[in-house]
Amino acid sequence: MLPEGRVCPQLLQITDTHLFGSPEKSLLGVNTRDSFHAVLDLIEQQPAEIDAFLATGDISQDDSISSYSAFAHGIARFAAPCYWIPGNHDDPRIMATELDNPTLHAAKQIVYPKWQVLLLDSQVKKHTYGFLSESQLLFVEKAVAEYPDRHCLVLLHHNPIPVGCRWLDQHQLKNGSQFLDLLSRLPQVKGVVWGHVHQTLDRMHNGIRLLSTPSTCIQFKPNCDQFTLDTVAPGYRRLTLLDDGEIDTEVLRLKDNPFAPNLASKGY
Ligand SMILES: [Fe+2]
Repeated sequence: MLPEGRVCPQLLQITDTHLFGSPEKSLLGVNTRDSFHAVLDLIEQQPAEIDAFLATGDISQDDSISSYSAFAHGIARFAAPCYWIPGNHDDPRIMATELDNPTLHAAKQIVYPKWQVLLLDSQVKKHTYGFLSESQLLFVEKAVAEYPDRHCLVLLHHNPIPVGCRWLDQHQLKNGSQFLDLLSRLPQVKGVVWGHVHQTLDRMHNGIRLLSTPSTCIQFKPNCDQFTLDTVAPGYRRLTLLDDGEIDTEVLRLKDNPFAPNLASKGY
């Protein structure tokens, strides 16, 4: 629900937190717990109202219960609900128990007065790439048919299109074309938003806005054939869903990146 008088949902996407059970552990030189909290601090400093958080996967790096409770503890400082989907690094069974409380919601459909938001599970067990099952695709069709007068925003973990990094694009959504063909037949769908690629992208495809978002920890350098880390700062994405179906969005990053990764890393 939205507060009375507001019809444009204000959503914040946070993605790829890659948290460890231990608060001391780092991923390629970045303490992911500290960078997550620094991004939450940045969010807290913004004046914008928050109607919901959307966490688009790779919440944990080690699949420990304590990594998920660290995420829940961090997000609990905000009153807004947080909806989540798994990434390739996640354990959905632990998520279902640890990320289900008055703040964290396992629901995959959020209905607002003018919009609905759908969260899809693109995880393929034991694989880095993604795939949307028939039931996930059917879920989109049914949800749009259920609310034909509402605009629709779709979120998933994996990129449905190549982003231009060969090493990363081999791990994209394998049925991305099928997915986008389906969405192109549904004029209600105005945007698709994902994580996974640890970099920003903003592109149009058949009238649909395609958006990817930086991680709250390490960043991948755009347009690189081989694994390459970037020095840009961790961040998140604000999404305001306007009445007319437009999406007003921006990526906000930490200032003067205090979380420089180990650039000599050859992979993760
Ligand atoms: Fe990730």
